[in-house]
Amino acid sequence: MLASKRILLIIGGGIAAFKSLDLIRRLRERGASVTPVLTQAGEEFVTPLSVSALAGDKLYRDLFDLTDEAEMGHIELSRSADLIVVAPATADLMAKMAQGLANDLASTLLLATDTPVLAAPSMNVRMWDHPATQRNMTTLQGDGIRVIGPNEGDMACGEYGPGRMAEPMEIVAAIEAALADGPLKGKRVLVTSGPTHEPIDPVRYIANRSSGSQGTAIARALAALGAEVVFVSGPADVDPPGGVEVIRVETAQQMLEAVQAGLPADAAVFAAAVADWRVASASDSKMKKTKGGLPKLEFAENPDILATVAQMKKGRPGLVVGFAAETDDVIENATAKRKRKGCDWIVANDVSAETGIMGGAENDVTLITDEGAEDWPRMSKSQVASKLAARIADELA
Ligand code: C5P
Repeated sequence: MLASKRILLIIGGGIAAFKSLDLIRRLRERGASVTPVLTQAGEEFVTPLSVSALAGDKLYRDLFDLTDEAEMGHIELSRSADLIVVAPATADLMAKMAQGLANDLASTLLLATDTPVLAAPSMNVRMWDHPATQRNMTTLQGDGIRVIGPNEGDMACGEYGPGRMAEPMEIVAAIEAALADGPLKGKRVLVTSGPTHEPIDPVRYIANRSSGSQGTAIARALAALGAEVVFVSGPADVDPPGGVEVIRVETAQQMLEAVQAGLPADAAVFAAAVADWRVASASDSKMKKTKGGLPKLEFAENPDILATVAQMKKGRPGLVVGFAAETDDVIENATAKRKRKGCDWIVANDVSAETGIMGGAENDVTLITDEGAEDWPRMSKSQVASKLAARIADELA
């Protein structure tokens, strides 16, 4: 898929820069050419020699290098690739990009380019969580910059949390998705998936049997048609697809916040099985068995994410698709649900135990639009996903 694609790889100054060396290899193995740009800070982490040797190409380092300018000016360089990849995208590089600074070669290329940009953030967890970085992220996404990661995990600085750069193969998948040519190229689609977990106390929660497989398949199918996919997932059984922006959440309230942060989008598909209720005041410490009797759980209603987005006055996605998992009077209930929630389409299915659909590999759905109910034959969840993605592409065309 990457044969003859040209990647301009900007390597920023972070400890994850070593992973970018592997990224270069992976990209070249797949037939892509890599033109590397190393920031001054990046040179503290990887050597210019190893970068250019692995890339098999000239390394660009300096904005004011007369030889470079004679060979290829920086404006031309900024537009010479099919995709610019910034990995690691440090907090500093992201801030420069968000502000439009152009005081070194990397930032100048990023400001001068008309080529799509993919950033793989990498930084200490506090730096990532800082409101300034989060503001910059929002700005960059608003500017149409694609983002992969960061992942959560142990960090080189000894802390734990989000901030680890995505792994080279995850970045490769994101590059393939960014370069995928299809009817949804240039469209941003948000997908919710999986169950939510609503805490009772620090060790117990209320959940449901959703595996996340239908939502995952939909995200994968949309990305395969070239969409930029924001995938907001509760704790699912299946791994998220490659090449999409993954936002992991636990509760319905977190899911709503992630969805709002992920907008604007051209379309949104709400495949998550969101818990309708949460425990009103979850206990901060583990609840104990007492002689006094059974604990009493009070419930509070969760926000309806689909209805909230479908009824947005400003910034509503052009197409809002909901799911309706029903056990009785499927079409009737789903048709009423479409009206009540204000979404454009509802994908209705029967999740009675005997259908084996919830947690299974197949689905049997009816698509409900303003033109009525369209019954699809029983097929695999990935076929349902492909058919739905194709319909979404037709609608957004
Ligand atoms: O109301 P019900 O749960 O049957 O509606 C299903 C649809 O609404 C699904 O698309 C689901 O993702 C969405 N939903 C939601 N937020 C909720 C409940 C459901 O987005 N709190």
